[in-house]
Amino acid sequence: MDHFDYRNGELYAEELPIARIAEEVGTPVYIYSRATLERHARVFRDGLKDLPSVHCAFAVKSNPNVAVLKVLKEQGFGADVVSEGEMRRALAAGIPAEDIVFSGVGKTRHELTHALEAGVGQFNLESEEEGVELAGIAARKGLTANCALRVNPDVEAGTHEKISTGKAENKFGVPYDRAAEIFDRLARLPGMNLRGLAVHIGSQLQSLDPLEAAFGRMGALMEAIRAEGHHITHMDLGGGVGVPYKQGEVFPSLEDYGAMVARVCKDWGVTLMFEPGRVITGNSGVLVTEVIRVKQGVHSPFVVVDAAMNDLARPAMYDAWHDFQAVHPRGDHFIASVVGPICESSDTFAKNREIDRVEAGDLAVFRTAGAYGATMANTYNSRPLVPEVLVSGEKFAVVADRIEPETILAAERVPDWL
Ligand code: LLP
Repeated sequence: MDHFDYRNGELYAEELPIARIAEEVGTPVYIYSRATLERHARVFRDGLKDLPSVHCAFAVKSNPNVAVLKVLKEQGFGADVVSEGEMRRALAAGIPAEDIVFSGVGKTRHELTHALEAGVGQFNLESEEEGVELAGIAARKGLTANCALRVNPDVEAGTHEKISTGKAENKFGVPYDRAAEIFDRLARLPGMNLRGLAVHIGSQLQSLDPLEAAFGRMGALMEAIRAEGHHITHMDLGGGVGVPYKQGEVFPSLEDYGAMVARVCKDWGVTLMFEPGRVITGNSGVLVTEVIRVKQGVHSPFVVVDAAMNDLARPAMYDAWHDFQAVHPRGDHFIASVVGPICESSDTFAKNREIDRVEAGDLAVFRTAGAYGATMANTYNSRPLVPEVLVSGEKFAVVADRIEPETILAAERVPDWL
């Protein structure tokens, strides 16, 4: 469910015609719906309401816009961050440091120190080496780092290879079979409060079965570690629940997810932590684009739009599907490929797909672009960095400016010896 609907033949974001925003802000532009974000946050938490102690940390990487973070903070979410930059954003949105989980496989010494001093709530350690380094920093400063050890459960997530993280060959977490001994060694270090385990097997999961398998393995590991005399008070179950990108695709509901978690984890006697990203932000956003022209092709026409792979990288990177819809549908369809202006064939959003018939100057949207959209944007081909808008009822605000190539050029220098 989202708040992007057609009314009187045109697409609205909540109470606002998308065309009006496009006219004021220009295209391409991301539009987020506050009501949709709030709804997903609520539904996610409701699904977990039978669990005794829960901490939800929004995966900032999916949409780090500070206004979006503020909306989610108001819904009781903390933040799961993977860099100092993301941590600064979460703090700027008013999320208390103790509600922040610091994940990520390559936290630098500088980042560890900074996060420790800021009072971050939990570090999810990706290796024994990282734990030793962090404990050392904390001990020297007379501080204690609250930590969970991320474990790689060697479970097949059944998602795109590039966003699968829980197989033994992936770089994430410590090997399942060595986790108990690593936990034991790290837990003894001064400066370290190793209080839990963490797992995240991948993103855009279409089935709950791999998650259930992974959580089952984590429960068994938790018991084994407790049997050695360690206290485990926190279990971080990561994110990963997928969303439909195509009409008609079926994904598990958040109610089903909550019921599965309750079935497997209810009696663990811990605070259960979650790091959802896509399921909160995915269909809370669209990317609005204008058709530059429709060019005849050998097989089918090319709809050349003013958004490109630098604005929305998912189709080029993962062959991802985003529904393409006209803002003012003309009532008929045609078979066409939708492409951006960038000089690569990978700058293709849709290949020979049946879409709303559009003409030069028409506005259209890519749906389900609120997660891993603007956050993965770049300036390839010296294009501007795409702006972002937040809609709330009849109001909207530009929550990230379009960064023009001149601004980026201003940060470059030609040395005087050239
Ligand atoms: N926790 C950890 C440790 C993660 O690595 C991720 C995502 C999440 C939570 C949030 O996962 P989610 O609930 O959003 O599935 N750029 C890719 C997705 C990369 C996901 C990276 N990690 C895409 O566009 O599909």
